[in-house]
Formats: sequence, structure tokens, C-alpha cells
Amino acid sequence: MSKVLYIKANVKPEGQSKTFRISDSFIEEYKKNNPNDEIITLDLYKENINFLKGEDLEVVFGPKNEESRNHPILKYAYQFVEVDKYVIAAPMWNLNVPAILKAYIDYVSVTGITFKYTENGPVGLCQGKKAVHIVSRGGSYSEGAGAAFEMGDRYLRTIFGFFGTTDFTTIAAENVDVIGEDVEAILENAINKAQAIAKEF
Ligand SMILES: Cc1cc2nc3c(=O)[nH]c(=O)nc-3n(C[C@H](O)[C@H](O)[C@H](O)COP(=O)(O)O)c2cc1C
Repeated sequence: MSKVLYIKANVKPEGQSKTFRISDSFIEEYKKNNPNDEIITLDLYKENINFLKGEDLEVVFGPKNEESRNHPILKYAYQFVEVDKYVIAAPMWNLNVPAILKAYIDYVSVTGITFKYTENGPVGLCQGKKAVHIVSRGGSYSEGAGAAFEMGDRYLRTIFGFFGTTDFTTIAAENVDVIGEDVEAILENAINKAQAIAKEF
């Protein structure tokens, strides 16, 4: 039985987010194929995610013990390292991921939990896991001139690799805000792709 962490990063409510339409289809299809797996939904806007404060840094870089597991910040890093798979649903915001997702990464990027320093440099402690990033974007960034401006998927892929999770797949619906585009067709296409990947995930 695998544990899946479904990380949702969007202020839009259920039913209004194009990104969640795709990611919810992914999760539904995944559940059909893996009925015994545990899906843990982490809606970042419903969690107490904040920017790290001065005193938080001592906790993040300080010693880890039994009490740390229930610490309001460190609990996210423990949860992160204890699951097997990640599904990240986040729209493109200003060429990147929404800031709350970056704040969440600052919570889970904890030495001694999700990675450690060795004589040979940092080593990720989230190895052998897999991740999928589901994103919708107003414009086009997966190829052509726009690709150089894309920072969100590239950031997530890099930081997950730093944690040791190098099996990282992206499902992107693009041009959804471009006048004249058939947005329904774009979303249907992304949903079909998501369902196909969910079967093998
Ligand atoms: C705050 C904000 C910033 C955005 N920045 C970009 C951007 O840099 N590039 C882009 O192509 N679309 C951008 N968009 C458009 C969204 O990526 C696009 O509408 C997406 O489909 C929204 O997904 P959602 O329906 O799940 O919220 C932005 C939207 C918002 C709300």
C-alpha cells in the first residue's frame, strides 16, 4: 500500500480551478487503479503555511528529536518524507508557482529530515519516490520562446531532485487564457493525459 500526498496550491475554490479539474481527474483515476492506497490531501490555503520567521530558522536548522515530529513547521517535513508519491497541483503564477507553494517548500526543506549534509555534499532523503506536477498556464511555456521564462516546473523538478525524488513528470495545460483557443479541448486533452499517467503512477 502506497501513501500519496496530494499537494494543492491554489486560492480558487473547488469547481473554479482549471488546474484542480485536471488534478482531481488524476486522483480519481489513481484511486480506481489503487483502491487500497492512502491519499492525503494537503490544501495549502487551509493549512497554517506562512513565510519562515527568524525564530523558525533555529527550528529548521536545529536538532531533531521525538518532539520535533509534532512541531507546527517540522510536521510537514516528516509527512513529506514518509509518503511514497507526490501529486502537486499548482497553476502558473507570474512565471512561477504560487508563493504559498514556495513557502511550503521552505517548511519541508529541512536538514536531517528530507535531506542531509555529508562529506560529499548534500544528499536527498526522499529517494525512490515519484512525483507529478499538474499545472495550467494562461500562455505557452513548454516549448519555443516562452520556455526560457518558465520557472515553476523547473524549480519544483530541481528541488524534488535535491530531495532525491528524480522521477518527476509534468502534465501541463497551456494557452488556457489565449483568446480564440478552444479551452475545453485543451483541458480535455490534459485530463486524458492525466488519466493515462495516473494508471501507471
Ligand atoms: C496571480 C496570477 C498570476 C498569473 N501569472 C501568469 C503567468 O505568468 N503566465 C501565464 O501564462 N499565466 C498566468 N496566469 C494565468 C493562470 O496561469 C491561468 O489562468 C491558469 O489556468 C489558472 O489556473 P486555475 O484555474 O487552476 O487557477 C496567472 C494567473 C494569476 C491568478
